[in-house]
Amino acid sequence: MKAGRILIRNAEEIVSPTGTKAVDLNSADEVNITRRSSILISNSRVEGIDVRHGSTDADLIIDAEGCVVLPGLIDPHTHMIFAGTREDEFYRRLHGESYTDIARSGGGILRTARYTSEAGADQIYRQTMERVRSSVMNGITTLEMKTGYSLDLNTEVKMSSVAEMVRSTGIVNVATTFLGLHFVPNGFTSEEFTEKVISEFLPVMSERASFADVFCDSGAFSPEESLRFLRASKSRGMKLKVHADEIENIGSLDMLSGLGLTSADHLINSTVDQLSALAKNGSVGVVLPITSFYLDPAKMPVADRFMKAGLPVALGTDCSPATYAPNMIFAIYLAVRFCGFSINQALTASTLNAAIAVGMEGRGTIAENSHADLIVVKANSYREIPYKFGSDMVKDVVVNGRPVVKDWNLISEPI
Ligand code: NIG
Ligand code: FE
Repeated sequence: MKAGRILIRNAEEIVSPTGTKAVDLNSADEVNITRRSSILISNSRVEGIDVRHGSTDADLIIDAEGCVVLPGLIDPHTHMIFAGTREDEFYRRLHGESYTDIARSGGGILRTARYTSEAGADQIYRQTMERVRSSVMNGITTLEMKTGYSLDLNTEVKMSSVAEMVRSTGIVNVATTFLGLHFVPNGFTSEEFTEKVISEFLPVMSERASFADVFCDSGAFSPEESLRFLRASKSRGMKLKVHADEIENIGSLDMLSGLGLTSADHLINSTVDQLSALAKNGSVGVVLPITSFYLDPAKMPVADRFMKAGLPVALGTDCSPATYAPNMIFAIYLAVRFCGFSINQALTASTLNAAIAVGMEGRGTIAENSHADLIVVKANSYREIPYKFGSDMVKDVVVNGRPVVKDWNLISEPI
């Protein structure tokens, strides 16, 4: 369906954070609520929010009676582009093996890199779209997608072309990340591989992705290697992200937070001082409760530390072959149920702050003239969302003024 004039009529609530800047978690408890109102969309923008929009010359009317309207959810951290699955590792972990043990025995990231290197772009695209569809049906309008399951440069290029194929469907906005340092392939030391990626991969991939990212952690890359890679990426005009303090605190942030990271992600083992330094440097912290839920439920990213540090926080899924749940409503549920987030904090973290974490200032809110990325959720109040987790609540999804989900049905060819 084309982007025309759309009227979303008679919503019980239209709920949105305000402004275009990331807000720290202490201030993220306020959202704007307009009751019994309608939204008019034209030319892919919100033209107005008005109680009197009873009838117009709209091309399409979306009935929001008994529903709430929210900004489309933004998932700022995914490893959704990959081939194959690793459900056997899920069961091995349940029987006591750790994520790191499995990686050392040739499983984990290396295994997915083998599958992904062997598969063709079309095959990866088809498997990736299963996850993208699930995301969208659960209210996502913007996805970050990382490369990083590659044994060679060709596979990195192939992964980024899959991200382009997803973008060109028009069913979701895509932010692309070159995860240049994710694992050390056999036959290299981490130092050698870092140099290879900087000299051979980066010149190509800096033209194909907006962000550079590195897994800086025990068993992956050191803070020094990460610094070299991120500096080189920055000098090629890329924006920066880091996986930090997921497995262990190895001082990643001490070395990297001064670089002007757009986001630092995971942050399970970071200290409040390290998080404060991130806040001072204008970064967003991306927290990934689904990862904790799969790998170690005792280590949830609790809100308290982020509030003490005054850090703006975004929520993401980290959907990957290790933690396969392409569903931001699940992340919101976990944040509220286990991480001490209020519903308003979880909502701001999934919309406004997540937009900043993917470099898309101006998305993640509903306001006059904002991008028309929004969702219609079957609930009388947005406060029902975590409470009703697991039921199909997302009735309609509009991306850039085009309906991509209509009455619970995905419109597969929105353009
Ligand atoms: O964010 N930490 C590194 N990478 C992913 C997991 C990727 C995988 O296991 O395939 C993460 O958790
Ligand atoms: Fe990750």
